[in-house]
Amino acid sequence: MDSVLVKGGRVLNGEVEASGAKNSALPLMFATLLAEGDHVFHNTPRLKDIQSTCELLNLFGCQTQHDGHLLKIKVNKLKTREAHYDVVRKMRASILCLGPLIAKYGEAHVSLPGGCAIGTRPIDLHLEAIKALGAEIRMENGYVVAHAKKLKGANVLFETTTVGGTENILMAACLAEGETRIENAAKEPEIVDLANYLIKMGAKIKGAGTSIITVEGVSTLKPAEHEIIADRIEAGTLLIAGAITGGEVTVKKCRPDHLPALIEKMREAGFKISQEATTMTVHKCSSWSGVDVTTAPHPAFPTDLQAQFMALMTQADGTSVITETIFENRFMHVQELVRLGADITPKTRVAVVRGKKGCLQGAPVMATDLRASASLVIAGLVASGETQVNRIYHLDRGYERLEDKLNGLGASVIRKNT
Ligand code: UD1
Repeated sequence: MDSVLVKGGRVLNGEVEASGAKNSALPLMFATLLAEGDHVFHNTPRLKDIQSTCELLNLFGCQTQHDGHLLKIKVNKLKTREAHYDVVRKMRASILCLGPLIAKYGEAHVSLPGGCAIGTRPIDLHLEAIKALGAEIRMENGYVVAHAKKLKGANVLFETTTVGGTENILMAACLAEGETRIENAAKEPEIVDLANYLIKMGAKIKGAGTSIITVEGVSTLKPAEHEIIADRIEAGTLLIAGAITGGEVTVKKCRPDHLPALIEKMREAGFKISQEATTMTVHKCSSWSGVDVTTAPHPAFPTDLQAQFMALMTQADGTSVITETIFENRFMHVQELVRLGADITPKTRVAVVRGKKGCLQGAPVMATDLRASASLVIAGLVASGETQVNRIYHLDRGYERLEDKLNGLGASVIRKNT
């Protein structure tokens, strides 16, 4: 099993480019199911999750070709409408095939995703929304079985903001009859990216990026071509990596306007950050303060950067209170950071980090999920000696060549096959 060995104590400096957003690419790939023909995506990151989605699309009968960052998907008449457990359990986002399948083919058979390291992550809100459009849904042998002759537009009010739920219903509503109004919709940049692609395909969507999205259903959609937005979480991770070492790092090909809360919190902590339309730089900084952070839906602080920010706060001058409001079990990195010497007291959804520069010492640690892995690598950058991060396969689900990008900035992160 792969692990990475991080040699601490090197200051990162220089420029690095962000890749395309995983969380945009995945829904976009499922959106292709809405129209037969040739779909083309530029800036598609090379990640395990993209590969898993290609595998699922291939099982449906599509042909996928991923060369460099160019992804071509040829959607043929589907061979099956079933998303098997073997694929879904590897990647929860597979549930995003439900909306397109039921809208286009009137039928879907999608395995329930099951548990996940960061919490129970139910899909009840996805199912309620699809039902609101007139689908009949039942559970059978661990599968969601959905049928509908023709979806009908409706008012859908999400009681909790859900990114995936909003994406599923947005895709389904495009081919429903009449108007769908989605209230308390997620406002993440990835929702806007999906809506932009659907609009290119011929969908009639208004309000993406706000909490109310309206969709006027159309009878058919056509394939299109699209450039996937930059990965704001990867960009934020690289910025934090530079910051923790006290170096000057510029992240290029990114969208600082998609990271308002991170930039604000880093400035509050004392970092100087300059930004242009597609570039941001964290400047040299030798000490910073502890700041409090609460995760919440966009544009608030993203849960996907909470673990990395916590690593940064272990080196702050003072205390930081980090509150996780999105996922109930997203402090799995805390015990690992503590093993490296961090002073953190976790409560159910709140962690109190008492920062102290130089408190971390290298040790073997275990990655538990995607963003926790990144946090441990970041901590390893400033731990004395060597930090071995085990179970690094999580990292490959969501970061394209993270070690190469960090090494390009002067880090020493070596992948080991153990
Ligand atoms: C997406 C992102 C993930 C990010 C998360 C929150 C992708 C592929 N993944 O995940 O990286 O951490 O948004 O920004 O884009 N919930 C329910 N019932 C549901 C659906 C969600 O209770 O049917 C709850 C979840 O358990 C969670 C909250 O709603 O507590 C938000 O989850 P959601 O926004 O749906 O996350 P995902 O779309 O799974």
